[in-house]
Order: sequence, then structure tokens, then C-alpha cells
Amino acid sequence: MPAHIKVIYSSGHTADAAARKKKGKCKKGDSISEPELVNRTSNEKCLATLDIFAGCGGLSEGFRQSGVSSTKWAIEYEEPAANAFKANHPEALVFIDNCNVILRAIMERCGDIDDCISTTEAAELASKLDEHELSSLPLPGQVDFINGGPPCQGFSAMNRYATSAWSKVQREMILAFLSFADYFRPRYFLMENVRNFVSFNKGKTFRLTLASLLEMGYQVRFGILEAGAFGVSQSRKRAFIWAAAPEDVLPEWPEPMHVFSTPELKIKLSENVQYAAVRSTANGAPLRAITVRDTIGELPAVGNGASRTNMEYQSEPISWFQLKIRGNMAVLTDHISKEMNQLNLIRCKNIPKRPGSDWRDLLDEKIKLSNGQLVDLIPWCLPNTAKRNNQWKGAFGRLDWQGNFPTSITDPQPMRKVGMCFHPDQDRILTVREFARSQGFPDSYQFFGSIIHKHRQIGNAVPPPLAFALGRKLKEALEQLLDLSRAIAAGSRWSGAVACRVGMAGSSTVSLSGRYSRVSVGVERSGSWVKPAIASSMDLRAILKFLLSHCRDKNMAAHSLVGVARIRVPKVGWEMSQI
Ligand SMILES: C[S@@+](CC[C@H](N)C(=O)[O-])C[C@H]1O[C@@H](n2cnc3c(N)ncnc32)[C@H](O)[C@@H]1O
Repeated sequence: MPAHIKVIYSSGHTADAAARKKKGKCKKGDSISEPELVNRTSNEKCLATLDIFAGCGGLSEGFRQSGVSSTKWAIEYEEPAANAFKANHPEALVFIDNCNVILRAIMERCGDIDDCISTTEAAELASKLDEHELSSLPLPGQVDFINGGPPCQGFSAMNRYATSAWSKVQREMILAFLSFADYFRPRYFLMENVRNFVSFNKGKTFRLTLASLLEMGYQVRFGILEAGAFGVSQSRKRAFIWAAAPEDVLPEWPEPMHVFSTPELKIKLSENVQYAAVRSTANGAPLRAITVRDTIGELPAVGNGASRTNMEYQSEPISWFQLKIRGNMAVLTDHISKEMNQLNLIRCKNIPKRPGSDWRDLLDEKIKLSNGQLVDLIPWCLPNTAKRNNQWKGAFGRLDWQGNFPTSITDPQPMRKVGMCFHPDQDRILTVREFARSQGFPDSYQFFGSIIHKHRQIGNAVPPPLAFALGRKLKEALEQLLDLSRAIAAGSRWSGAVACRVGMAGSSTVSLSGRYSRVSVGVERSGSWVKPAIASSMDLRAILKFLLSHCRDKNMAAHSLVGVARIRVPKVGWEMSQI
């Protein structure tokens, strides 16, 4: 590990520190008190959130829209991205600094400096924070939810320099992120990363992340979500890890809302309209996929290098998506396009305006530039390295009005693996606003800095509609806890069927089904039931305590309570579903 990256484990000298540590930790015999449970659930409509590696705020934006969290603090060290965050989330305190410096300053302020292993450089920078910054620092106990996307370039399959020292440093930001979880012990923690994060380094980094969170006492769930299934016209698979304190409900994954499968076969039934067959409808969803036309079809035509940051929309929305994304904006902003050099512009003009066209449609000929130079229309390296680069499929590619965008990247360039960045029928790279829409950012969302900075902010972001879907599930989890606390407070006695699930964190969930008039609860360990317990006519409080105490047993440290699936209380005439 490089000297400036440290995992900080708090040893909890003070009473405060002990209380903080207890948040995520579970000891045998601990039990949740009723008033505590009711207290936790009654005032938790909006979680006080700290967004680390915040970028321009895509993740925070989706959670804000879902109404479950309000980002009160954000840490982002790139100034243009931090300024964008500030402009779009004026209620948040944004620290434009390295997160290691901020953690050091927080620990210093809390009197935990002895627990903080940091470099002299981080210590020096922390001591230079001004009084206003110091007094605004988030403190343990104030933060309910920590979320963030540690830099993913180090893990990304698209990164050619994954073995460089810089990529290594960036990957180790995961440890800095985990240190925040360890020190703050928030109720909820969410990490986002590229899909490759799961398999990078033979899965060791991923396992280390899960193991660290489990060691802190959290319940953990991980999964891969496809943004296209949640209302954007973009294929973007991302890995997420949820962690919830033992006394909270671990959120479920959101159900896909839009069909989003890679078409297996495409046929042309009429001029310029293609129909696609998908391999399976198993991953179906209630709504159709959003297309490129739905997303950007009404935007005015602009040319290569367009630079007017404000202009008229010029036409009405032509899709439900556009209506929603435009909101009440009167002026179209950032419809600006990265300028291509003369040669690439000529190549772009030679790419046919039909779906699926890319560099392979260019003629094998020489062209004359304005300085008289004769050059190949087809870039030399593409055919010569095609075999080992999947034919450079999509390089210098045009989007298909009926299709979707490829994964939004931080620097659109035609000669890249994700090189499909040409407008379906204009000779230019997609504009900043078009990329922003492909990520589901509302047109009112502001980006800061140069065009390069703006593309980076967008390409780095979690699509807000995906974060919104995660936020809805977090909200459901909070509501389930509230339902349960109400039931306990009302002293409801149970009779009827119970099914409860106790999951082994990080692996599959085991389902246990109850029978009528009795409850059977057990925890599976290494393939055999450890303790199937049988009780009759247990009340809700007893069921909850039973489950919690089982999960706190040290023999089951790796297990986590996932939830009671269904509790029927026919006698009092209501039904409560799932904690
Ligand atoms: C993947 S992006 C996060 C995007 C963000 N979650 C969103 O949805 O918009 C990672 C961000 O972390 C920032 N970053 C990287 N290392 C950092 C560090 N040590 N301290 C603070 N910010 C850092 C980068 O500048 C980048 O904006």
C-alpha cells in the first residue's frame, strides 16, 4: 500500500467513539430496545448523507429525487466537478479536497488523532483548512448514510493504463472509502463501481471490501445493475454494494422498469426502421426501452465544434422522456460539441447515416487535407490491430435512432473502443447536453469548467434515474422498519403464517418457511441447519429479537439478518409485509 493511503481502524478511546463503534457492531446479547427502534424509524424520512468522491453529483441527484436522502456534505477534489455539485445541490457543504485530508481533519476535531494513521502531507493539508471548513465538517453521529463511487479508472476494462502507478493509487481509494465507513459507522453505506471491480485482481479487492464491511458488523448485499433497465437509453452495467447496520433493513434491488436486452438479430422491415429480436424475455420489464430518438430527437442541429452554451430549444418535445427531462427549462444549455480535426471530420462525413455504420464502412482511399497532405481515410492502426480489438467495432460509429447509447465515457473520441459517438444524422460528436441526457440528467443540471471537464463529469456519473431506483428501495426499507416498529409498539400478537429469511452475507439467501400456528427459524451454516427453533404463537417482538440475537451469535458472524418476509395478523385485520 502506498504511504499516503491508510486504512484507519478506530480503537474507540472515548465514550463517543465507543458509541459510534457500536453502531455497526453487534455483540452477543445486545438487543434492540423498543423505544430505540421507534425513535430510529419515526424521524427518518430523509437520511443525512455524506457523498464521497461526489463528482458533479449524479448519485446524490437520484437519491434526492427519490426523497430518501439529502446530501448535506460532499467531498470532491476536482474543482470544476465540485463547483457543479455546489450549483446543483446548494444545500450541501462541498469540500474541495482529498478525502484523506478531510478524514484526518474530522478525526483531529473529534480527538481521535491517535487512531489516525496518515501521511505528513495529509496532516499538513488538514491543518490548513480554514475555520469555516473546520466548523462545517461532518461528525460521526450526524451522518446516516455514506455513499460514493471511488474512482473506477483503475478497474475499468476501458483503461489501457490499469497497471500504472496512478491506477494503483486510485484503486486504493477503496480503502480510504472503507475508512470513512469504519469511523462514521453510518446506518447505510453504498458503494458504486464499474462492473469489472468484482473480478479485478481475481476478485480479491471485492472480497476485501465485503469482508471489511462484514467485520464492521454490517449486513451486506452486492449486485450488478444495468442502467438501461431504469429509464435511460444507455447500456451501463455497474457494481453496487449495500451495507446496512444490523438494526436496519437491508434494501432490496430495484426491479427493472424498462426492457433492456442486447438484440440478437436485427431485420429491416421498412426504410430506416429495424426490428430486433431479443434472446429471452426472462428479464422482461413493464416498459419498453428508451431509444436515442426518445432521448435527443428534438434537439436543434448544430455543427462540429458548436460552442454556444445557451440557445433556444427550437421545437417541442417529441417523447415522454424529453418532456420530463426538459422540465420547465426555457433555454437549452451546453448543446456544445467537442471539435474534431479536419481529418476526423472528413471521416465522420464519410460514415453512412444508417444504423450500425462505423469505420469499416469507410472506403480504402487517400484524401487530400487543406495543407496539401495526402492521408489514409481509414486510420492505419484500425485494420492492423482489428483482430485483437474485436474489429474495433463501433469506432467512428454512428448512433442508431432506434437503438441505445453505449456506456457514456469521460472523453468522447471516435478512435476508441467505445468510439460510437457520432450523431445519427449530423456530422459531429454528440454534444455535452446529449451525453447528459443519455445519463438521465435533467436539462436544468449544470456542468462546470471546459468542455473536457463537462464530459468528464457526465461520463463519471451514476445516472440519476438508476440512483433514483436505488433510493426508492432504500425508502421501502425504512418504511418496513417503521411498520415493524409500529406493530411492536402496538403489541400485536401474531398468528398465521410466517416466512423468514436469514441470509449469509455475500452469498445466497436461505429461505425458511413457517407453518401455520408455529414459527420455525434457523440459520444455515456450512450446509446444515444450526438451530431450527420452534415456537408457537410468538409475538412480533419475540420474532424480531429472536432473529437479531441469532445473527449476533458469534458463531454466525458471517451471517446477516435479511428479513422476515411476511407476517399476517388476521386477528387485527391487517397485514405487514417484510422487514
Ligand atoms: C466515479 S466519479 C464519482 C461520480 C459521482 N458518484 C456521480 O455520480 O456523479 C469519482 C470522483 O472522485 C473524485 N476523486 C478521486 N479521488 C479522490 C480523492 N482522493 N478525494 C476526493 N475526490 C476524489 C474524482 O475527481 C471523480 O470526480
